[in-house]
Amino acid sequence: MITIITGTNRPHSRSRAVAELYAQILRERGIDVQILDLADLPADFTTSALYDNVGLNEDFNRLSSAIGASDKFVFVVPEYNGSFPGVLKAFIDGLAYPNTFRNKKAAMVGLSSGVQGSGLAMSHLTDIFNYLGMHVLALKPRLAQFEKNYDGTTITNQLYKELLDQQIEQFIQF
Ligand SMILES: Cc1cc2nc3c(=O)[nH]c(=O)nc-3n(C[C@H](O)[C@H](O)[C@H](O)COP(=O)(O)O)c2cc1C
Repeated sequence: MITIITGTNRPHSRSRAVAELYAQILRERGIDVQILDLADLPADFTTSALYDNVGLNEDFNRLSSAIGASDKFVFVVPEYNGSFPGVLKAFIDGLAYPNTFRNKKAAMVGLSSGVQGSGLAMSHLTDIFNYLGMHVLALKPRLAQFEKNYDGTTITNQLYKELLDQQIEQFIQF
């Protein structure tokens, strides 16, 4: 089972659209996949599920146990203010330490409105996952200027599609 995590809780995000496309490709290859959209986090999770409140928020617990069920993760990482969204870090901070991600494997796909394609954001996130003991696939497609390369249903940029296919090939073997 591969879990695809959208790195933002913005409702109806483009990250969610990328997660759906990614899931579709994996399912076509016969791989079991679930999507965990941070938009489904309880709105008050930073005050009801972290620190002294660990374990107390049932909705948060449901999402965090979905993480426990997987050994492989795909993170769809939008670029927010030159990095990955803060809500993703808050979510990670609410997960059990140190075992949630240790010895597990992750792939990342970045997207942005500008030209960076979330490259720096994925680098920041890679540092965190390596700290937590998770192995990160080296190939991290950067879907820059995403709005210009996505028609609302599908990715229109051939190179982007090829990079995703390549990443999926590698991640299956990883
Ligand atoms: C709070 C916020 C900050 C953002 N900061 C950047 C940024 O620093 N650089 C950039 O290229 N795009 C930035 N964007 C645009 C997103 O990276 C872009 O819309 C991306 O394709 C998908 O984001 P989404 O998953 O929220 O739809 C920002 C968007 C939001 C909501």
